[in-house]
Amino acid sequence: MLRIGMLTSGGDCQALNAAMRGVVKTIYNKSKEEVEIYGFLSGYRGLIYSNFKMLTSADFSGILTKGGTILGSSRTPFKTIEEPDENGVDKVEAMKHTYHKLNLDCLVVLGGNGTHKTANLLRKEGLNVVTLPKTIDNDLWGTDMTFGFQSAVNIATDVIDCIHTTADSHGRVFIVEVMGHKAGWLTLNAGMASGADIILIPEIPYDIDKVIAAIKKREENGSRFTILAVAEGALSKEDAALSKKEYKKKKEKSRFPSVSYEVADEIAQKTGLEVRVTVPGHMQRGGSPCPYDRVFASRLGSEAAALILKGEYGFMVGYKNREIVKVPLEEVAGKLKTVSPDATIVKEAKMLGICFGD
Ligand code: F6P
Repeated sequence: MLRIGMLTSGGDCQALNAAMRGVVKTIYNKSKEEVEIYGFLSGYRGLIYSNFKMLTSADFSGILTKGGTILGSSRTPFKTIEEPDENGVDKVEAMKHTYHKLNLDCLVVLGGNGTHKTANLLRKEGLNVVTLPKTIDNDLWGTDMTFGFQSAVNIATDVIDCIHTTADSHGRVFIVEVMGHKAGWLTLNAGMASGADIILIPEIPYDIDKVIAAIKKREENGSRFTILAVAEGALSKEDAALSKKEYKKKKEKSRFPSVSYEVADEIAQKTGLEVRVTVPGHMQRGGSPCPYDRVFASRLGSEAAALILKGEYGFMVGYKNREIVKVPLEEVAGKLKTVSPDATIVKEAKMLGICFGD
């Protein structure tokens, strides 16, 4: 008997179901043993509190195109994972207990950065863990791509495409705020895909005067509008120079709900132009996965199953140089993959005339 536990943790994204289906279909197709699948509900919480449901192959039928996660998800912050919960429960011990009580052979964990830190901890505690890289942010170390990312790029691109027509009609400056946490992958890709004129990402702190100069230059060249794709984590040069603590304090005191509103205010004040902000927010994580993600997540899921069938544990199944690879969890955990300001894609964007405010 092969007993597999599975959970999805952290912010959801498209293709989580496709990835789980990939694992389970492959296991059922290839396993010579009987299989039992235990789906833990709401991420690590399900493992901590032994909240799970037994799943059969029928549960994975018809979910390739379904967004969200059939298991539910939650954020269980790594920084407090080793602290007892409000009832004094030792969370790590509880997870180990559930795993051993159910006599699991392994745990399949689908998640992003925080999730991988906990997965690596569980590996160190002796559990057999295989992980899959999900997040719209594409900021996971050890893989060139995460699933969910391309679907989110599609949505953010659609938003900016729509904004283009109305910006043109009204001759306005428009800011579209794109998710991505502390990484600029989503903004950079959606911005380039939709022809944004200015792209502001956390990795390249902006100078507001350079941003304004780019808008003015467009005006001088006869453009009626300007589109800015601004990452939710974008930072001005001044903010980038602050310590973490100072920056946090500044944000707490700020009258702006997010960086885009601050940029909009500065542009409006300094130019007198009409500026609007659009924040698509969690829409970027919602809906059906795009075809790329359906194929990508299915492939990753299938390769994760292949590892399980070989009894190879302690790896994330990732994607490097167009190949599916296995990456040791200790290499993945705790590291962020951000956009290098020297990356060729940034250079090419600049050659296309896109301003990064630097
Ligand atoms: O990590 C995915 C993500 O959507 C980030 O882009 C964003 O900063 C964050 O999650 C939002 O988190 P929450 O869903 O908890 O508000």
